[in-house]
Amino acid sequence: MIKKYTYGVPVKTDATVQEVPAAEGEIAPFTLREEEGKYIFSYALGAEDCVYGLGEQIRGINKRGWIYKSWNYDDPIIHEGRKSLYGAHNFIVVFGEKTFGAFFDCPGEVVFDIGYSDRDMLTVTSEDADVYILEGESVLKIVEEFRALIGPSYIPPKWAFGFAQSKWGYKCEADIRAVYDGYRKAELPLDMIYMDIDYMKDYKDFTVDPERYPDLTKLAKSMKRSGVHLVPIIDAAVKVEAGYSVYEEGLEKGYFCTDAEGKPFIVGVWPGDSVLPDVLNPEARLWFGSQYKALLDQGIEGFWNDMNEPGIFYSKGRLSDAISYVAAAQGKNLDLEAFYDVTGKFHELANNPDDYASFYHNAPDGRHVHKKVHNLYGYNMTRGASEYFEQYDPDRRFLLFSRSSYIGHHRYGGIWTGDNCSWWSHLKLNLAMMPGLDMCGFLYAGADLGGHGHDTTEELMLRWLAFGIFTPLMRNHASLGTRDQECYVFKDKAAFHNILSMRYAMIPYLYSEFVKCALRGKMLSRPLAFDYPEDKRARGVEDQLFIGDSIMIAPVVEQNARGRYVYFPARMKLIRMKEGVYLEEGIYEKGDYYIEIPLNEVVFFLREGKVVPLAKPAMNVSLLDEQHLYFLRFIDRPTEYEVARDDGETKSSLGTFETIIVAP
Ligand code: GLC
Repeated sequence: MIKKYTYGVPVKTDATVQEVPAAEGEIAPFTLREEEGKYIFSYALGAEDCVYGLGEQIRGINKRGWIYKSWNYDDPIIHEGRKSLYGAHNFIVVFGEKTFGAFFDCPGEVVFDIGYSDRDMLTVTSEDADVYILEGESVLKIVEEFRALIGPSYIPPKWAFGFAQSKWGYKCEADIRAVYDGYRKAELPLDMIYMDIDYMKDYKDFTVDPERYPDLTKLAKSMKRSGVHLVPIIDAAVKVEAGYSVYEEGLEKGYFCTDAEGKPFIVGVWPGDSVLPDVLNPEARLWFGSQYKALLDQGIEGFWNDMNEPGIFYSKGRLSDAISYVAAAQGKNLDLEAFYDVTGKFHELANNPDDYASFYHNAPDGRHVHKKVHNLYGYNMTRGASEYFEQYDPDRRFLLFSRSSYIGHHRYGGIWTGDNCSWWSHLKLNLAMMPGLDMCGFLYAGADLGGHGHDTTEELMLRWLAFGIFTPLMRNHASLGTRDQECYVFKDKAAFHNILSMRYAMIPYLYSEFVKCALRGKMLSRPLAFDYPEDKRARGVEDQLFIGDSIMIAPVVEQNARGRYVYFPARMKLIRMKEGVYLEEGIYEKGDYYIEIPLNEVVFFLREGKVVPLAKPAMNVSLLDEQHLYFLRFIDRPTEYEVARDDGETKSSLGTFETIIVAP
């Protein structure tokens, strides 16, 4: 059951797709007070209550014990002290004495104090909002109800379930070909190579540097023939440059965000002075989306949208003030305070809250100052592209995902979780984030495997991939200036081969489970407690997940570990993939066990009564033979499995399944 309460005059977000009539009375089980124009919702947590949700956020699966802020934020140093990441996913489920869900539909700043100020209080502080309270018999039922409220999840083409290689720093066609050759020579599978900002001419969206890529159409075609898709990045900000058609056309039509006086608001991003497309204006949104045509026409079928919090390095006005301030300090003796004042002028340039309060959008429900609608920007950038793809080739599924997002975005594209680092703690964070994303409809999601910032190691890369094979988006991506981390550069090629082969073998399972979850509003990756709500021990498990209906995973997330303790909430069979061979290594009863997991192996657990369809591994998704499936099984009677049999490319073929009866 869903109840909707409205406070103030909320901005229209299009997060939901169902009409819910306004509820009468007080917003139980919260108590509400108003302070300084904000609404403060409080709930006394039971001693054992867990709080789940918030999608892309910092810290563990159970969110209790920290304070989180929904304020989409671009900062490449992700650490435990942070309160915000790149997404705003304001949905939580309290599980315990009372079990209920709550969605705070407000695109400005929303703060979730989940036992931070007081270990036993949940306090949510919001501006004008529609608040939905969801009741149901279990966490999973509440999530299903929520997913029906917010509409179906985006489903990419099937090739997007293959493995992807990316790096900021692949500069030209020769670099792309070298990556392709590296994978082929090492006989490692690959479905995508990503093109970061280096492909553009002077960082201008929708342009291709003709010297670096003399014939992108030809390159894209020849790569595709070899089973590899090229996936370019698109940034939110548009370079200010006379003669650049995207800038000139947008300017003429009034499609960029403006300052208080109605003049385009100039910000600094990769190309220097830039303007921000007003993606909250439906016309401007579709117009920006229609620019993707330039690349679609060159044979590109997938994109990643970036810097769309929107990330701002500086605003032109603030940069000029900072430079003057520093110039005036020239030759002066700077004491501590004066010195910090000078350096502070530059530190406060990026993503400055006053800048977000200084530009405006023309949305259908009025002119809004950006800070009121901040968290909607990435969502609407992606929506614009998706709306245009619908016109360009209505039935085709394009690959599309974004860095910044809000609930509602999940209907148009996936997300990646932004600039993590090559740290073990970020591998663990990747795991912890997946179920929260699922709860909010973001099924096509993943992190930069191996880590984006800082240098990775062979060991971290292998362990991260051994987890990454279970995330729908499986991309190795790294930042400029970090050590090479393509799988073929490392020593133990056989280990990489074993792990990547497992991913490809499992695509019939992963894809079938994904499509079922997307179409039926279910969760693909789930914490143990969601499936075993009565099991108190399961509630404390923060580093294991169920993936789809049949599998439990328990990845190794620590350096030099040779294995780990695994908690089995029920009987399961251990499956080990070693040197390309599946070994079934016994049945484990409910309880804790130490399992050895060498660096070059993949270990997962098959649930009792379940099966997993596997294909023979191939070099890319299009080469998989899915007519001849092999089933891992832990069954004692004939068991049905529904395999997705859509064509992997069109929307109209979605929902085609074949039910296979597997014998014990
Ligand atoms: C941002 C993105 C990152 C990309 C870089 C250069 O930091 O999050 O993935 O590599 O920009 O485009």
